[in-house]
Amino acid sequence: MSEKNSASGTFYVTTPIYYVNDVPHIGHAYTTAAADVIARYKRLKLGRENVFFLTGTDEHGQKVEKAALSAGVKPLEFADSVVTRYKDLWARLDISHDDFIRTTEDRHKKAVQTIWRIIKEKGDIYPGHYEDWYCTPCENFLTENQLVNGKCPDCARPVEKLKEESYFFKLSNYAKALLAHIKANPQFIQPESRRNEIKSFLEKETLRDLSVSRTTFSWGIPVPGDLTPTLPSPVKGEEIGKWSSHVMYVWFDALTNYISALGYPDDERFKKFWQRNDSNVLHIIGKDILRFHTVYWPAFLLSAGIKPPTTVFAHGWWTVDGQKMSKSKGNVVDPNAIIEKYGCDQFRYFLLREVPFGLDGDFSIKALEGRINSDLANDLGNLLSRTISMVEKYREGNIPPAINSKDGDNERNIHESLRHLNAATTGYDFWLDSLQFNIALSQIWTIIRAMNAYVDQAAPWKLAKDNKQAELSNVLYTLCEGLRIIAVYVYPFMPSSAQKIWNALGIKKDISSVSFDEEVKWGKMPEGLRIEKAAPLFPRIQ
Ligand code: ME8
Repeated sequence: MSEKNSASGTFYVTTPIYYVNDVPHIGHAYTTAAADVIARYKRLKLGRENVFFLTGTDEHGQKVEKAALSAGVKPLEFADSVVTRYKDLWARLDISHDDFIRTTEDRHKKAVQTIWRIIKEKGDIYPGHYEDWYCTPCENFLTENQLVNGKCPDCARPVEKLKEESYFFKLSNYAKALLAHIKANPQFIQPESRRNEIKSFLEKETLRDLSVSRTTFSWGIPVPGDLTPTLPSPVKGEEIGKWSSHVMYVWFDALTNYISALGYPDDERFKKFWQRNDSNVLHIIGKDILRFHTVYWPAFLLSAGIKPPTTVFAHGWWTVDGQKMSKSKGNVVDPNAIIEKYGCDQFRYFLLREVPFGLDGDFSIKALEGRINSDLANDLGNLLSRTISMVEKYREGNIPPAINSKDGDNERNIHESLRHLNAATTGYDFWLDSLQFNIALSQIWTIIRAMNAYVDQAAPWKLAKDNKQAELSNVLYTLCEGLRIIAVYVYPFMPSSAQKIWNALGIKKDISSVSFDEEVKWGKMPEGLRIEKAAPLFPRIQ
């Protein structure tokens, strides 16, 4: 996101809505954790009421219908069971979404039918015939030329030939406008490499109109105003296709979730988080669904007279031990098992620290355990536990105030730590606004390591032995104050650990509801705090 947008206005962040044909895995956890970090950070910057964080599930379409059929249940029943798995995981992963949209909800169906009508009235939807290829796993229309060895170019799975009546959206009308929008708004598609990819796609390829309805199955939102006789439902007793023989193409339905959840067209929430001049909209997605979000979605919006999102950020893909994750390989990482064994914050930290956001990354237990033991247990956990025990040992648990002393070495050390903290304050905003989570974290860890080195240099045990009480107080104060601020920086990434740091320092406030800019100022620690001893923040993995 551009920096000018970061300090004011409203902020709306979304994840993709996940298909319910499959249960959640590390990839879903990754996108959702990243969106959660941004949402938590923005709440501290802009105020809770100015931030809205949405996730949800994509429940229609041929893929889900097939999965339900093979499970022998109705699609909605099938979806219900998977939705629970998503909701449970988000609770375990400490995801703080403000809403969870399901595309089978009435509020969503109404909004999708409204935008369809508006686009149709504009003359951008017309009836026709689709005769070409379709990839059901990707829910994507393909031309003969796009196929690679007769298979889907994206997922390499078999495709099927479709021949059916269909409504079309005049995508071809929007190529110029899209290109102009991309050129005029460098922040629209991020990172830069993805922006170039879409730019050259639009420059080189002629966009063909997009098929936006299907007639050969019924698990979708009925096309409004199309009252031709219904197809028999493949599922006994299922009524979704009752009023129409056309159901909407699942991507037309799914993309609209981003506004249906805000109460499009009339709700105040839609106005506040999408339409105002100072509203910022960020869609975080995986690189697999870039074209849907940066070509189809903005074209639908432009046609309906709605401005496109501010930014679509496409992150990379995780492999596992160097291999593509797949059910057949049996290497799909279940986030529940990782959280159970290693802890929620540890997992969140790893996901966002290990790989630059935007690039592909590799997951391995060895790498996860390495990060937990070095960055979390040795660096941050150790800094907290040694600080707390020294305050207990030398000041009977009371955090001392800073005392002015002019002892040369000690002053220099304090200033060195402060210098790092001050530099972090400016860098942090920039790195988080540009979604470079790993850099933000590595900068915070530079401070944490500097503070551990400061303990070694300042040697409080020696100051105690030499009875240099003023300097000892200064060192202890510096450590506690530094930790108080570090907790604010790590809060978006590791919310419950940040709160634990504050609790250990005796700070009674709820860290999720403070003002970031106020709290990161040096010297804001209230006087007279008493530390509270607690279990180690991050137990070492043996
Ligand atoms: O595409 N590494 O849903 P989906 C990183 N319903 N992220 C991964 C990943 C991996 N190996 N695998 C999946 C859909 N993801 C549509 C979206 S939005 C209007 C509709 C993440 O269940 C990544 O965010 O297939 C990717 O974009 C998303 O899961 C795809 O989830």
